[in-house]
Amino acid sequence: MADAPIEIEFDNVSITLGATPVLRGLSLRVRRGETKVLLGESGAGKSVALKLAIGLLRPDQGRVIVLGEPVSTMPEAALYRLRRRIGIVFQESALFDSLTVRDNVAYRLDEEHAMDLEAIDARVRACLAAVELEEVMDKFPAELSGGMQRRVAIARALATEPEIMLFDSPTGGLDPITATNIMEQIIRLRDVNHVTSLLVTHRLQDAAMLAAYRWDAEHNALRPADGMSAHTSFLVLHDQHAVFDGSAAELHASTQPYVQHFLQI
Ligand SMILES: Nc1ncnc2c1ncn2[C@@H]1O[C@H](COP(=O)(O)OP(=O)(O)OP(=O)(O)O)[C@@H](O)[C@H]1O
Ligand SMILES: [Mg+2]
Repeated sequence: MADAPIEIEFDNVSITLGATPVLRGLSLRVRRGETKVLLGESGAGKSVALKLAIGLLRPDQGRVIVLGEPVSTMPEAALYRLRRRIGIVFQESALFDSLTVRDNVAYRLDEEHAMDLEAIDARVRACLAAVELEEVMDKFPAELSGGMQRRVAIARALATEPEIMLFDSPTGGLDPITATNIMEQIIRLRDVNHVTSLLVTHRLQDAAMLAAYRWDAEHNALRPADGMSAHTSFLVLHDQHAVFDGSAAELHASTQPYVQHFLQI
């Protein structure tokens, strides 16, 4: 994995929003099949970083390169094409209230006109099966629990078979069992589909689970990584920059004062 191509790169990125400097000189790299976990307290700039990665925000300085494309400078039409290769699960699930689960998941497939109805239906079923939610296909978002809505949002993001996934607090506000279930599905995407991800979380349990487990495709089950690489790294945002960027072992051994404080909370 160390020599896999870099699929997400921030090079010395700075952005000020309103009068607030949010990020100053942030650099990061995520290789194919790797998950980079963004940690940091509320307001640290985690969601802003994800928005920079898909060009919803543009940096004042520095470059953002995703799948080889210069996101920070490319025209809107080219960005639109690039975004089809990226799945996004926003902090709030952001489902369309007036559409059924099926139509929410099919939304980007319908939009692209490239697939016939049967193929769309098969893809929707497969994506909902991946989050164990096929049975709610004909319901509306308001009829689902928060955790189910989050899983539908993940299914929707998966529909276009993205090479990159951006997850913003996918377990936020969920009970521990549902949260663990969602993390399990994210680990499966990483290890079976080799999806490259940037994942924001407040929960250290999520981070620990990503680092400690891998998906065993043969037995279709989660297994302890047992020293094998879990293809996960961590970045801690504080004071507008990365105070830490490295592996789980390095994170726990870090003597950086903010990292130590963050891990003790
Ligand atoms: N569109 C915007 N206009 C002005 N300021 C913004 C905008 N978006 C974000 N900010 C500011 O940027 C900073 C970082 O916001 P961001 O949403 O990235 O935080 P976060 O790390 O995702 O926090 P949380 O964990 O609460 O979701 C905050 O100070 C926020 O007020
Ligand atoms: Mg946020």
